[in-house]
Amino acid sequence: MLKIRKANINDIDAIADIEKRCFPAAEAASKSTFESRMNIFINHFYVAEIDGEIVGFVNGFVSDERTIRDEMFEDASLHNESGKYQMIFGLDVLKEHRRKGIGHKLVQTMIEAAKDEGRAGVILTCKNELISYYEGMGFINRGASKSVHGGAVWYDMELIF
Ligand SMILES: CC(C)(COP(=O)(O)OP(=O)(O)OC[C@H]1O[C@@H](n2cnc3c(N)ncnc32)[C@H](O)[C@@H]1OP(=O)(O)O)[C@@H](O)C(=O)NCCC(=O)NCCS
Repeated sequence: MLKIRKANINDIDAIADIEKRCFPAAEAASKSTFESRMNIFINHFYVAEIDGEIVGFVNGFVSDERTIRDEMFEDASLHNESGKYQMIFGLDVLKEHRRKGIGHKLVQTMIEAAKDEGRAGVILTCKNELISYYEGMGFINRGASKSVHGGAVWYDMELIF
């Protein structure tokens, strides 16, 4: 059975492993990056579990800035718990569990939490091929991002409540 729950620090090995399997090396966040993110904004990490096995996760911090800068991926100290925008730095679902709606549920969980917390919206960056995926969840494409994360071209997507 699928369950979405808040992450805790014991999930770190599974999270770092899934990240390695889902992203090219230049884009994947390292275990030490996850360690510092979890120390600072564990409340903004959710995992998807099937029968107790973690198969995906979503995470990102909160900021008053309306766009994601590359520094944010590495520097968790830029998190501002009272900020306006919930950012999504990563959405990962293991290949063998894709296309079952898990990614959608993880993003929806972030959106609902951001609403409950009184945020102004949710912000993320994605590659060209996923623009329509996020548009399907209500995000609007604001055009090419300044991000050069991992040497790829990214688009700024936002969902303002
Ligand atoms: C993107 C990702 C999280 C989607 O997770 P998921 O659980 O399969 O997503 P859902 O089941 O909610 O939605 C599936 C739909 O997403 C779309 N989609 C997913 N991945 C896609 C891709 N690479 N290219 C185009 N469309 C894609 C399709 O429309 C698909 O619908 P379909 O099955 O009717 O064709 C997953 O593919 C993943 O982890 N990819 C690698 C990491 C990544 O790129 N993360 C996003 C960073 S912005």
